[in-house]
Amino acid sequence: METFGHIIDGEEVLSRSGETFDSVDPYTGQAWARFPLGGAAEAALAVAAARRAFNDGRWSGLGRGRRRSILHRFADLILEHADELALADTRDMGKPITQSRGNDVPRTADNIRFFADHALIAAAETLPMDSGHHAYTRYEPAGVVAAIAPWNFPMMLESWKVAPALAWGNTVVLKPAEDTPASATILARLALEAGIPPGVFNVVHGFGPDSAGAALTAHPDVDRITFTGESATGRIISAAAAKNLTPVSLELGGKGANVVFADADIDNAVSWSIRAIFTNAGQVCLAGSRLYVHRSIQDEFVARFVKAAQAMVVGDPQDERTQVGPLSSKTHYDKVRTYFDSIESVGGTLLTGAVGDGLFIHPTVVTDIPADAPHQCEEIFGPIVTVTPFDTEDEVVGLVNDSPFGLNAMLFSENLSRAHRVAARLNVGTVWVNCFFIRDLRAPFGGVGASGVGREGGSFSREFFTEPKAVVMQIDQTAD
Ligand code: NAI
Ligand code: MG
Repeated sequence: METFGHIIDGEEVLSRSGETFDSVDPYTGQAWARFPLGGAAEAALAVAAARRAFNDGRWSGLGRGRRRSILHRFADLILEHADELALADTRDMGKPITQSRGNDVPRTADNIRFFADHALIAAAETLPMDSGHHAYTRYEPAGVVAAIAPWNFPMMLESWKVAPALAWGNTVVLKPAEDTPASATILARLALEAGIPPGVFNVVHGFGPDSAGAALTAHPDVDRITFTGESATGRIISAAAAKNLTPVSLELGGKGANVVFADADIDNAVSWSIRAIFTNAGQVCLAGSRLYVHRSIQDEFVARFVKAAQAMVVGDPQDERTQVGPLSSKTHYDKVRTYFDSIESVGGTLLTGAVGDGLFIHPTVVTDIPADAPHQCEEIFGPIVTVTPFDTEDEVVGLVNDSPFGLNAMLFSENLSRAHRVAARLNVGTVWVNCFFIRDLRAPFGGVGASGVGREGGSFSREFFTEPKAVVMQIDQTAD
C-alpha cells in the first residue's frame, strides 16, 4: 500500500489526529493507497501557511517573468512524471490509462504553461484620457485561494484552478476529492521540486461536509473559493462563502444536449457523439447525455451509434486497449445503477447496454424516455444516453433549453447558417459545432443556471483570481 501526505508549508505531513483514509481502486476493489484524513486543524494550518507565503511576497514578489519560468519547469516535471501521475488517477478512479496518460497529463501541463504565459502577456491595460490624465489597470493577486476539486478529471481540473491562481501571484490550498487524492500530492511534490516556494501550493486531504472541504470554504482568511462538482454542493459552498463575502467560482453539473440535424455528416456525428457520452464512462460534466436526432435520419443514425457503442472495449483500465473502465466508486456505481435499473419502469426501451461484473456498466443507449423522467432531467454521470427524435429546429431548441442545467451543447449540421443560428439560441456556456471537448484556454468556460456561477479561462480567470485596481494619473494639467 502506498502512502501519501498533506503538503503544508513545503512539508509532507500526516494529520495531527493520526486518522487516515484509503483510496480504493474501483477495478480491483482493493485499497491501494493511504492518506491522512484532514479536518479543521489541517485546513487552518494550510491556510495559515498560504497566508504567510502570500504576505511575505516569496511568490508574488518574484515577478511575473520568474514565476513564469518556474511554472514552465513545473509543467516539464509533470510530463517527466507522466506515468506516475496517470497511474495515480487510473488507480484512484478507474479511468482508462490511455486517457489519463494521453489526455489528462498533457492537458495538465498545458494548463500550467498557458496561464503562466497569459499572466505575462495580459498583465495590464492603459487607458489614455482626454483630460490630460491616463488610467491603467493593475491586476493584483487576490491572496489565498481555496480550490475544491472533483474526482472525474482529478489532476486536470486541479491544474485548471491552481495554474491561473499561481500565475497571478496567489497562494493556494487545494483539497482534492476524497476518491482521487493521489495525483494532488504528486503535483505538489513536483511544484516544490520545480522551485515553487514552500507554502505557496498546499494540499489538504479529507472529505467535504464536517471535514477539510467545509473547513476551507468557511475559513475567514480565504480570499477566493474555486469549486467544481455537484450542483447541490455548489449551493452549500456558496452559502458558506457568503458569510465571509468570499468570491466563489462554481463549475457545476450538466446535462449536455447533443443535436444531430438531418444535414449532419453522419460519420462525424456518430464518432463525436460516442466520445461525448462514453469518454470517462460518462463521468464528465460536459457529457452529451441527451441525444436529439432528426426523425428523418433517426433509424440510420441510431443503428450506427448503437453499433459503435457495442464495439467499445470495456475492461481493465490499466490495459492500453480499454476504452471504458469501471465507474469511479461503489457509491457512484450504486447511483448510476439506480438509473439503469429504472429504464423500463419509466417507459424506456433499452437499445443496448448491460450491467457487468464489479463496478462496470456497459455503454447504454435508451429511447422512449419521457421528457420528465429522471433519466432525461438529472445528471446521471455514467455511460447512459437517451435518444429522442425531433422534427423542427424550433422544437429542438426548446427541448435543449428546457433544463435547469446549461453547461454545454453539441450540434451537428453541415449547414453553416443553421449552425450559427442555433448556437446563438442555446442557453449554455459552450456550444460545440461538429465536435466535442475541444478547448481554447482563452475562451470562457462555465455554465448557465444550475451549471455554475462565473466563467474561467484566459482573462475570465484573471478577473477571478485578481483584484483589478485602477490607477489614475495626471500627465499634463494644461491638456484640452
Ligand atoms: P461533490 O460535489 O460532493 O464533491 C466534489 C468536491 O467537493 C470533493 O472534493 C468533496 O470533498 C467536496 N465537498 C463535498 N461537500 C462539500 C462541502 N459541504 N464543503 C466543501 N467541500 C465539499 O461530488 P461527489 O460527491 O464526489 O459526486 C456526487 C455527484 O456529483 C456525482 O455522482 C456526479 O453526478 C456529480 N459530479 C459532478 C461533477 C461535475 O464536474 N459536474 C464532478 C463530480 C461529481
Ligand atoms: Mg458528495
